[in-house]
Amino acid sequence: MPDNITVLGLGLMGSALARALLAAGHHVTVWNRTPAKADPLIAKGAARAATPAEAVEASPLVIVCLLDYPSVYEALKEVSLAGKTVVNLTTGRPAEAREAASWARGADYLDGGIMAVPQMIAGPGALILYSGSKDAFDRHEQALAVMAEPRYVGADPGMAPLLDLAMLTGMYGQIAGFLEAAALVTSAKYPLTEFTTTLLIPWLNAMAALGSAWAEKIETGDHRTEVSNLEINKAGLENLVRTFREQGVKPDLLLPMKTVIDQRVAKGLGHEGLSVLIEELA
Ligand SMILES: NC(=O)c1ccc[n+]([C@@H]2O[C@H](COP(=O)([O-])OP(=O)(O)OC[C@H]3O[C@@H](n4cnc5c(N)ncnc54)[C@H](OP(=O)(O)O)[C@@H]3O)[C@@H](O)[C@H]2O)c1
Repeated sequence: MPDNITVLGLGLMGSALARALLAAGHHVTVWNRTPAKADPLIAKGAARAATPAEAVEASPLVIVCLLDYPSVYEALKEVSLAGKTVVNLTTGRPAEAREAASWARGADYLDGGIMAVPQMIAGPGALILYSGSKDAFDRHEQALAVMAEPRYVGADPGMAPLLDLAMLTGMYGQIAGFLEAAALVTSAKYPLTEFTTTLLIPWLNAMAALGSAWAEKIETGDHRTEVSNLEINKAGLENLVRTFREQGVKPDLLLPMKTVIDQRVAKGLGHEGLSVLIEELA
């Protein structure tokens, strides 16, 4: 059965979400601050709302995808949300999501973290994390599934943004490692694409398979290792940093890791594995 769904915000992401909902046959009402961005969606059958209030009025389910939380408040400050389900897919901090949930007067509120780029929406690999009202999630799960695989992660509205940021944290770590590796390889004039595809990516995939063992060590607090202890890793990173300097490359993205290892070893705690470094982050 087609649902009436409103999409507020037709930037790159909001437009992709609205397109997916339209393609699945839903009745989609759209609003954007700059009205012309709605034109391609109107051509595909969406209804244009002149104001955020008109857009919210049109549907029980309101999907919001604006730049940031201040823009959400600006757009919705004078709009009655009572009785609506508001799904806010705007990226923000967990604290902002919790604040928005209490601000959404009389609405059932879900916050979301989009783990995809616009081109991935409605395609394989697209995931959206949701947290907040479980009733709202259960009621609208089928419609939400049209945009990306929907994953409910808890009643605390801040949980989806927190997990979103945790996933991005993993990604930035990976990018930092890649950039340092690329700088080292190019300093030696080795072909980077060949290094990346034939050496680095297979190596990283093999290492990623160990990820769940790391999580188990952290959950149990058992950081004994049969792989390599912190003393060995301290020596390894010293070796790396010296090599970088000899090659004329700055190891700036690696140095924070070295600092934390050195700090732990200086406390006389160098016998455990790398997973124990979590204790230095508390
Ligand atoms: N693009 C991605 O790959 C991606 C991935 C994951 C999550 N996200 C998140 O999705 C959200 C939207 O991203 P996007 O890529 O669609 O960005 P975008 O193309 O820059 O679009 C931003 C949207 O916010 C609107 N906006 C900005 N300030 C506003 C205000 N004060 N009042 C009302 N509307 C305002 C813009 O309206 P105008 O058209 O009038 O400027 C536009 O609709 C962001 O929170 C982003 O972090 C994006």
